[in-house]
Amino acid sequence: MRRVPHPQAGTEGAVGPVLDELKPDMARVGKALRNGLGNMPSYTAILSEEEIAALARYVAKASGGEK
Ligand code: HEM
Repeated sequence: MRRVPHPQAGTEGAVGPVLDELKPDMARVGKALRNGLGNMPSYTAILSEEEIAALARYVAKASGGEK
């Protein structure tokens, strides 16, 4: 499993918003991963479109952002 360096669902972190509180939906996670945002880097250089979609789905689901 790829390790996700972020205050992601179920964890506490020091950088970026706590995704459990933000509860982003898939589109929002995907946009952040593709374009980057503020201090967050874009992931298009190291993740395929398929991986970005899978990660966005996972984060949205795990954070409770998926309706
Ligand atoms: C693949 C791993 C990552 C995922 C899934 C992820 C996901 C997200 C999401 C969903 C947001 C909110 C976007 C929005 O508000 O619309 C966000 C924001 C942010 N992330 Fe990440 N992120 C990742 C990696 C990182 C890394 C490595 C860093 C640190 C270098 C980082 C730093 C930030 C920061 C600083 C924000 C706030 C940006 C702003 O509002 O200006 N993220 N991230």
